[in-house]
Amino acid sequence: MSVEIKTRRRTSRDVRLMKGQAPIVMLTAYTAPMARLLDPHVDVLLVGDSLGMVVYGMETTLGVTLDMMINHGQAVMRGSARACVIVDLPFGSYQESPAQAFRACARVMAETGAAGVKLEGGAEMADTIRYLVERGVPVMGHVGLKPQSVNTLGGFRAQGCTEEEAAGVMRDARAVADAGAFSLVIEGTVEPVARAISAALPIPTIGIGASPACDGQVLVTEDILGLAGEISPKFVKRFAHLAGAVDEAVRTYAEEVRARTFPGPEQTYPQPVTGITKRTGS
Ligand code: KIV
Repeated sequence: MSVEIKTRRRTSRDVRLMKGQAPIVMLTAYTAPMARLLDPHVDVLLVGDSLGMVVYGMETTLGVTLDMMINHGQAVMRGSARACVIVDLPFGSYQESPAQAFRACARVMAETGAAGVKLEGGAEMADTIRYLVERGVPVMGHVGLKPQSVNTLGGFRAQGCTEEEAAGVMRDARAVADAGAFSLVIEGTVEPVARAISAALPIPTIGIGASPACDGQVLVTEDILGLAGEISPKFVKRFAHLAGAVDEAVRTYAEEVRARTFPGPEQTYPQPVTGITKRTGS
């Protein structure tokens, strides 16, 4: 996609058309500076409700509100120019009824300008997904391990391990696709099930802990950068260890402040200046 579309922001349709053409690269982003860094490299930026845990230090995603998602969605839109931006619907903002879900989506779409929303759920959410899509809201589905259902799932564990569970995840995936979702996240699901779903559906699947058989991959950015702490799920690969770099930089800063060697002459205004010094984007 990066080769073909150079001048405009990607849409949900562009993402759907990538099925069978090129692997979809998706990462989470919650802030404008991170969105700016990721934007040249990814197809999709997901403003995931994982921000509750990653940014706000919550134990689960259940405490995330619609206002939080909208604020972070706006920041990510400001920081990006080419990626398709998708905003998660948080727990409690869409499960009650299709009308409630539409009201939440209308706020997300109007107030952020994002390309679409993601919501967790399978067959039980199919009517809602259909209702939203028929009213102009592009929906990315999310099946398999659904973190918003952690209390009924009994913890975070891989899905599709028994025949019954595998059939359930497949049924959910089909229902979401039939309802009109433009793509589907499969989380924490064993390879044969993710492979079968990816082969069966006409829409792209995007895996997180769901094997290379998916049409694309997503991870939490702080996880791949080594910024999210020592414990991470099996499916995370660290592509950098930035926590170490941050520790080193902050230790040096603290030392220099304490030694009074920072700020030096380069960071000091030698005489009165007029006007305001503008912060640059870098
Ligand atoms: O909230 C999130 O970040 C997600 C992805 C990890 C798929 O849903």
